Amino acid sequence: MEVIKVKDYQELSKVAADIIADLLKKNPKATLGLATGSSPVGLYQNLIKMYENKEISFKDVKTYNLDEYCELPRSHPESYYSFMHRNLFSHVDIKEENVHIPCSEGSDLQKLCDDYNNQLHNASIDLQLLGIGANGHIGFNEPGTSFEQETFVVKLTDKTRKDNQRFFNSLDEVPTHAMTMGIKNIMQAKKILLVASGKNKQDAVKKLLSGEITESFPASILNKHKDVVVIIDEEAAGLLK
Ligand code: GLP
Repeated sequence: MEVIKVKDYQELSKVAADIIADLLKKNPKATLGLATGSSPVGLYQNLIKMYENKEISFKDVKTYNLDEYCELPRSHPESYYSFMHRNLFSHVDIKEENVHIPCSEGSDLQKLCDDYNNQLHNASIDLQLLGIGANGHIGFNEPGTSFEQETFVVKLTDKTRKDNQRFFNSLDEVPTHAMTMGIKNIMQAKKILLVASGKNKQDAVKKLLSGEITESFPASILNKHKDVVVIIDEEAAGLLK
């Protein structure tokens, strides 16, 4: 695991975007695994700037997102479908047919999980971008999830719902369930890029870098992947010696 320490969120966003842009320059047909949450917003802004400056293109890029809330229609402003279009896809030349986001709209959630999982089996993700939950979740794989898990519907923990309440008017509005790539899907990416910023991530970063691997801390499995880059800012690194 390569750890890159940077000063702040701004630098983190630039360094992370440069890693993705370098990949797209080398392989314009790359397949990216993408993430939502506050952590990647700045890096998406940098990618948009690089696209506008004609340094990179998404014309032949395919994307697979980690997760999506259940109980929210795609048209809801806080669905991850809306998030991704607002923060990246609407601003670049990606083709809509190359965008893949788990779909939790519909009555047969198991079938929707299986469909997404099959799509992932047929894809080969060159780089998977990850944030990290304060409780160590990646995607929406909450503590206790089996490392062998593939795409599934998860009941969100109270901690995760409270952490994500800031995007909604009240806790009641935060969905209780989500559909997420499983840990096994995430680990199949050729390269993983995890970004963590701010004090709220101090504990999670410390546990991740301790090297201990346990299902009670999902991100710890990344210690077993052969190509992981973790970018942390000074605040997130606050508990490291
Ligand atoms: C959400 C997402 C995760 C994300 C995490 C951290 O729960 N499902 O993919 O990594 O939150 O979000 P943030 O970057 O906003 O702290």
